[in-house]
Amino acid sequence: MSIRSQGKLDLGPVLGAMRSRSGSPVAYDLPDQGSTPPPRYDTEFTSLPAYRQMTLQRDLADALGLRDPYYQPHQGLAGATSRMENRSVINFASYDYLGFNGDPRVVETIESAVRTYGSSVSASRISAGERDIHRALEAALAKVYEAEAAVVFVSGHATAVSTIATLLGPKDLILYDALIHNCIAVGAQLSGAARRAISHNDLDALEAVLIRERSRFNRVLIAVEGLYSMDGDGPDLARLVEIKRRWGAWLLVDDAHGFGVLGQRGHGIAEHLGVDPREIDIWLGTLSKTLVSCGGYVAGSSELADLLKHLAPGLVYSVGLPAGQAAAALKALDLMQEEPERIIRLHDNSRYFQETAQAHGLDTGTSWGFGIVPVYVGDSLRTVMLAEKLLEQGVNAFPILPPGVPELTARLRFFITAAHTREQLATAARLTAETLAALPLVSLPPSAPAS
Ligand SMILES: Cc1ncc(COP(=O)(O)O)c(C=O)c1O
Repeated sequence: MSIRSQGKLDLGPVLGAMRSRSGSPVAYDLPDQGSTPPPRYDTEFTSLPAYRQMTLQRDLADALGLRDPYYQPHQGLAGATSRMENRSVINFASYDYLGFNGDPRVVETIESAVRTYGSSVSASRISAGERDIHRALEAALAKVYEAEAAVVFVSGHATAVSTIATLLGPKDLILYDALIHNCIAVGAQLSGAARRAISHNDLDALEAVLIRERSRFNRVLIAVEGLYSMDGDGPDLARLVEIKRRWGAWLLVDDAHGFGVLGQRGHGIAEHLGVDPREIDIWLGTLSKTLVSCGGYVAGSSELADLLKHLAPGLVYSVGLPAGQAAAALKALDLMQEEPERIIRLHDNSRYFQETAQAHGLDTGTSWGFGIVPVYVGDSLRTVMLAEKLLEQGVNAFPILPPGVPELTARLRFFITAAHTREQLATAARLTAETLAALPLVSLPPSAPAS
């Protein structure tokens, strides 16, 4: 029944619906505030199980005299070196892989874009926030992937969450690598689709799930990373393409860390493994790593881009990428193409660090030795102690602990960049090995899962 007749607003049906069957106004039973007090509901943040677990770990670290490694401020640009607590450290905790952050050419481009467009586009792109620089960046990114189109979002994390939640729903299935980044796990959760985590890089296990379950679902998405951010290894992309074709699934590759790092031109995992990038249904990436900006993107077919531009909540209901950030990413992308020697230097540096670390007896796990080299310690407490003692000696590498990685696989993660010198890399590998060998054999009990 329409409430609008002949251009006039007719409230009759609405008012009618508010009356009881007898035609008299509906009486609502309100609780008698005078006699029974309302139940007391818990509104304390501190009683959340996650809060209790967080403070338990912090108290334990305090009791052991360890400094909280999180949110430690850097006093300026964090590149191959950084300033912390008023002294210079060799820095391995920042993912400026090709060393473009602070490059005068990038800074000048940002300044000029901000002068032209201001500091914000002041609206969602779908309304008044669209600028020609967004389109130029999207065209340049699409070209890298030989894709029909790309769409740029204001956050890398939101790109993944929004894209997955837009494309999949409760009748669908998402299969993702057990080490996948949080943004994909959260997107999968919010989509309402069934989810299965597949053990890391185990494509036989992936196929086994498809054999068992494919027919029960409408759409299926397989999600992997091009270069895993905690382990520094990657998937067998050619086999994944073959599997997704055979089983009628979409393949999403989050190449946030592969871009600028893998391949002679830095075009990522597809270039590194010689796979046609057009075989991947959904390329996902971020502007925050090699492209020294902020934001994320999807590249793929024009239909996919069209869908996301009109339906992805993180695009439609969020402000457009500031023009200065778009300009920075575009400039860094141009420079990456003009200066391929930086990629060669990054490859040399990574290989040198990994080989030197291994020669010192350090365990770098399954890392391919491109940009990300973890040094496994195992126990969380010893990992935090190692990070702290290294920082005292002027080396900053971030400790990665459960639940970010599986229990007993705590590690220090070294982001290697084109800007590191051989000397810095050699010093870090030697000090890490010496400091780890001198650590006492203490250990923390495994962290309880947050309930
Ligand atoms: C694999 C991967 N995907 C997505 C993201 C999110 O990107 P951003 O930090 O630019 O939001 C990250 C961030 O580190 C990441 O490592």
